[in-house]
Amino acid sequence: MTLPSRSARQWWRDAVTYQIYIRSFADSNGDGKGDVEGIRTRLPYLKSLGIDAIWITPWYPSPQNDHGYDVADYMDIEPDYGNLDDAKRLIKEAHDLGIRIIVDIVPNHSSDQHPWFKEALAAGPGSAARDRYIFRDGKGENGELPPNNWNAVFGGPAWHRITEKDGKPGQWFLHLFATEQPDFNWENKEVRGYFEEVLKFWLDLGVDGFRIDVAHGMIKAEGLPDTPEKDSPEMLAAVAMPFWDQDGVHEIYRSWRKILDSYPGDRMAVAEAWVSPASRIARYLRHDELANSFNFDFLTSPWDAKVLRERIDGSLAAIKEVGAPASWVFNNHDVVRSVDRFALGLTPGTGETTLDRQGDPAKLDLNLGIKRARAGALLMLALPGGAYIYQGEELALPEVRDIPENRLTDPRWRMSNFTDRGRDGCRVPLPWKSDQAGAFGFSAHSSVSPTDAWLPQSNWWGSFSVEAQEKNADSTLHLYRKALAIRASEEGLGDGPMTWMEMGENVLAFGRPGNFLCIVNFGEEILLPMGEVLLSSGPLNNERLPKDTAVWIRSR
Ligand code: GLC
Repeated sequence: MTLPSRSARQWWRDAVTYQIYIRSFADSNGDGKGDVEGIRTRLPYLKSLGIDAIWITPWYPSPQNDHGYDVADYMDIEPDYGNLDDAKRLIKEAHDLGIRIIVDIVPNHSSDQHPWFKEALAAGPGSAARDRYIFRDGKGENGELPPNNWNAVFGGPAWHRITEKDGKPGQWFLHLFATEQPDFNWENKEVRGYFEEVLKFWLDLGVDGFRIDVAHGMIKAEGLPDTPEKDSPEMLAAVAMPFWDQDGVHEIYRSWRKILDSYPGDRMAVAEAWVSPASRIARYLRHDELANSFNFDFLTSPWDAKVLRERIDGSLAAIKEVGAPASWVFNNHDVVRSVDRFALGLTPGTGETTLDRQGDPAKLDLNLGIKRARAGALLMLALPGGAYIYQGEELALPEVRDIPENRLTDPRWRMSNFTDRGRDGCRVPLPWKSDQAGAFGFSAHSSVSPTDAWLPQSNWWGSFSVEAQEKNADSTLHLYRKALAIRASEEGLGDGPMTWMEMGENVLAFGRPGNFLCIVNFGEEILLPMGEVLLSSGPLNNERLPKDTAVWIRSR
C-alpha cells in the first residue's frame, strides 16, 4: 500500500492523542474533582504541548464505583463534571484550536444504577428486561453455587447472587469487573441498537471518535463454559478465556464502522483490547473495523532493547497485513507509571511483572526512571504511526505510592480483600503549580488543599508541576513540546516506513524518511553517527550518546 501524504491521509494514522483522566485533570468549581470546564480552561496548555487530539475518560452520570467506568446514563454528563452545554462548548473550542475529541464508550457493562439494570432486577427471571444482562440460575441443589467458575478482573468471583422480589435468594448476574458493573448481553438486539444510538448521539454533538472500553470482552463463549482450572484474574493472563477476544466482537465493530463512516471527517474508534499475540490485535484493525488499538505489548515491555525491538517488529508485521497504523502507548490510568516501571529495573519477562504495584519502592531510583522515560518518549514519538500520552507523562510524573490506605478508592483495593492497592497511584490530580494552594493549582479555588483533592496529593508533588517545568528549559515538559513540534514539521514521522540500523545489541536505532534518525542507547556510551542533533532526551557527552539516552538526528 502506498501511503498518501500526511495531510491527505486519515488523521488517526499519525495523531498524538493526550489522555485526560477527567477527575484528576483540572477542577474549575472547587469540589476537589476535575470537570469539563477545567478541561476547557486548559485547552491553551494542550495546544502549546502540540498534541492532535484528546481522549476524555468517561464523563457520564455514574455512581463512580469505578470512577465513571460504571455508567448510569450514556447520553448525559456527570453532574459533578458539568452538563451537556459544557461538553458542547468544550468540543467547539477544541475544534477551533484544531484539537480533536475522543470520548470513552463503555459497552461491556453498565452501572447497576442504569435504568435497564434496575428494571431487570424488578422484572424477574425469564423477562425481556433480564435478557439485556447476563442472568443465570445458580448451580447446586438450591442454586447456591455460581453458574460457572469465572473470576472478576478486580478479584473474587464474577457472579453475584441477587435477592428476588419475594425476598428469597434468586438468580446470579455476571460482572467481569466490580459487582456494581453488570455485563450486558450482546446477543440481545436491543443492547446492540441502544449502543448504535449512543454512538450517534455523541457523533451528532461533534466528537471525532471513541475509545472502546474492554473492546475484547463483549461477546462470551456460547454456553459460558468454565475457564481452565488455573484461572488468573489478571487481564493479561486471560488470553484464551471464554470471555475475551471471541470472534463475535468483530461483527459489532463492522456495524460501528459503518456508522462512523456515515459521518464526515474521518470519525474513528480505538480499541482497548488486552489481546495477544499481535496478530489477534490486527483483527480489530481490518479495513472495515476499528482505526486504532492500543499497543499493550509495547506498554508492558521492560526497558530492554531486545524485547522492545521484538515487540515493535511483531506489531508492525501484524498490522501491515491489514494496512493499519500502529498506536504506541507507555501509560494510561490502569497501569503503574512508566517512570516507576523503568526505574525498578524489571528483568525482561512477561507483561504482568511490569504491572506490579507492590514493587519495592525502596529500590526505586527516580532519576533513572525519569531518564529512561524521557528516552522512551523520543523512541515512541519517532516510531511509525500514532501515539497516546497519558496526562502527567509529559511531566514525568512518578507513581504515587504513599496514598494513605484509608484514602484508596479503586474497587481493586476492596475486591482484592485489601491486598492490591489498585490504580490510584497513577490517578492523583495533576500538579499545575509549585505551591500547595488550590491543591497545587489543580483547583481554580485556592482554598482547596492537597488533601482536599479527591485523591490526596503528596507534599513533594509540586516539584513536578507544570509551573516548575515551564521555568526549566531542560524539563520533561519542554522535551515533549520540542519533540511534538519536530514531529509536526517532519513529513517523514507519523505513519510510514522505518529502517533499523545495527549499532549493537543495546541500541535501538532506526531511520525515517527525510534522513531522520532515532537512536536510543540502553547500554554503555556510544559514538554518534555524523549529522545534526535535532533533540536529545538528556545531555550528550560531546559526540557520544550516554546510557539511557535517546537522540534525534538529521543524518548527512
Ligand atoms: C478498562 C478501564 C478500566 C476499568 C475497566 C472496567 O480496563 O480502562 O479503568 O476499570 O475497563 O470498565
